[in-house]
Amino acid sequence: MLLINSIYMMNIATMEAKNEGKSIGFVPTMGYLHKGHISLIEKARSENDLVVVSIFVNPTQFGPKEDYEQYPRNLNRDMGMAKSVGADIIFCPEVSDMYPQNFKTTIHIKGISEKLCGSSRPKHFDGVATVVNKFFNIVKPTRAYFGRKDAQQVAIIEQMVKDLHMDVDIIPCPIIRDEDGLALSSRNVLLNKDERIAALVLNRSLNHAKALMKEKEINIVKIKKEILEMIAQEPLAIVDYVEILDSKSLNEIKELRGSILIALAVKIGETRLIDNIVLEE
Ligand code: PAJ
Repeated sequence: MLLINSIYMMNIATMEAKNEGKSIGFVPTMGYLHKGHISLIEKARSENDLVVVSIFVNPTQFGPKEDYEQYPRNLNRDMGMAKSVGADIIFCPEVSDMYPQNFKTTIHIKGISEKLCGSSRPKHFDGVATVVNKFFNIVKPTRAYFGRKDAQQVAIIEQMVKDLHMDVDIIPCPIIRDEDGLALSSRNVLLNKDERIAALVLNRSLNHAKALMKEKEINIVKIKKEILEMIAQEPLAIVDYVEILDSKSLNEIKELRGSILIALAVKIGETRLIDNIVLEE
């Protein structure tokens, strides 16, 4: 496995792979890898000749009061994990190379970037879309792998790829959870023991909504209210949003029809966690 730090060297590796007719599978991450990331790398490994994993804590997707500095980092551990599942290249560029002093371009995907996480994190998805676009230009992947845990991120990247005629297949992958149901996240290490237990309320309330729908509950307002009540019972939890939306367009829905996304963002202590579930009518 190769560690590449410079954009120039990554360009060369990409060019060589393309000249040899190799397909490139790309997994963009911010590091501190866990089994969720690993599942994406494994899928990329099974479908491509060359597997590139980027590790870059992208400053432009963090707000001024957010946890950019505190975001967990451990490159050696990440390299061991990525190597064990067959990654070929770890691409780990410098912030100053990705964003030189006179950097001026931002990608904004209207509407879809402003709701859900976008309303409490206003510039977040501009940062995500811009950095993913940059990575696509540098790595030139055949396929790029994204987790459905970040359902809105998947929708935004798919929209960008379509709108800008980008030549890459976006492959959404299932949410990986701990045994007790907590969706894996690099931020879970920031939770103390009590917060880790409190965090289970996200998955518990999604499962409750699923059970309600199974019992043929069709009142969206009631389902939302029950989720909010369940989270309110957890003293360490503060709700950012609970939304029930069309899973493709992320538009609000009046009735439960088709493929439905229930998405949550909840602050547990200082740590903001997200989770979601997609249910078919
Ligand atoms: P990061 O949070 O490190 O996540 C990298 C990828 O792993 C994303 O596609 C995310 O959805 C996926 N992922 C995280 N937790 C997962 C889980 N429990 N199950 C399945 N997949 C999971 O998302 C980002 O980084 C950044 O925004 C990035 C796209 C790299 C741009 O900076």
